[in-house]
Amino acid sequence: MSNSTPTVDVALLSAGFHASILSTVVVDARTEDHPLIYVNPAFEQLTGYAAADVLGRNCRFLQGDRNQQDQTQRRNLREAIAAEQPVTVVLRNHRRDGTPFLCELTLRFVQDASGTLTHILGF
Ligand SMILES: Cc1cc2nc3c(=O)[nH]c(=O)nc-3n(C[C@H](O)[C@H](O)[C@H](O)COP(=O)(O)O)c2cc1C
Repeated sequence: MSNSTPTVDVALLSAGFHASILSTVVVDARTEDHPLIYVNPAFEQLTGYAAADVLGRNCRFLQGDRNQQDQTQRRNLREAIAAEQPVTVVLRNHRRDGTPFLCELTLRFVQDASGTLTHILGF
């Protein structure tokens, strides 16, 4: 995999995320508690939540009763976020109508030109 970021039209990338069948979210890593700033239609379809309902919130609202959660997966996730390390975990999540589903979540980290973390992508 190449380390250099290819130059691609931003509107094309944006349209690509929006058209993707893979549920995709972006959080602002520079803001306290990492609020969602983007969810694509595949996320809306998967979870039943409209973008307007979830933007500004941390994704953990999908977890419902957190004691039911696999705490090892949650800890792995927290540690990976703190270390800015790519990670894949499986979490128990809930749709808007309350039905549970297993969410295989993969995170990728985006830094600015100075290497400072700015955003985290969740797939
Ligand atoms: C980009 C991104 C996407 C995330 N997506 C989900 C998700 O879909 N479901 C979920 O349960 N947690 C998701 N999380 C994890 C929570 O936001 C939170 O980091 C996790 O619950 C661990 O922190 P906590 O123990 O403080 O809740 C996501 C985190 C990030 C950074």
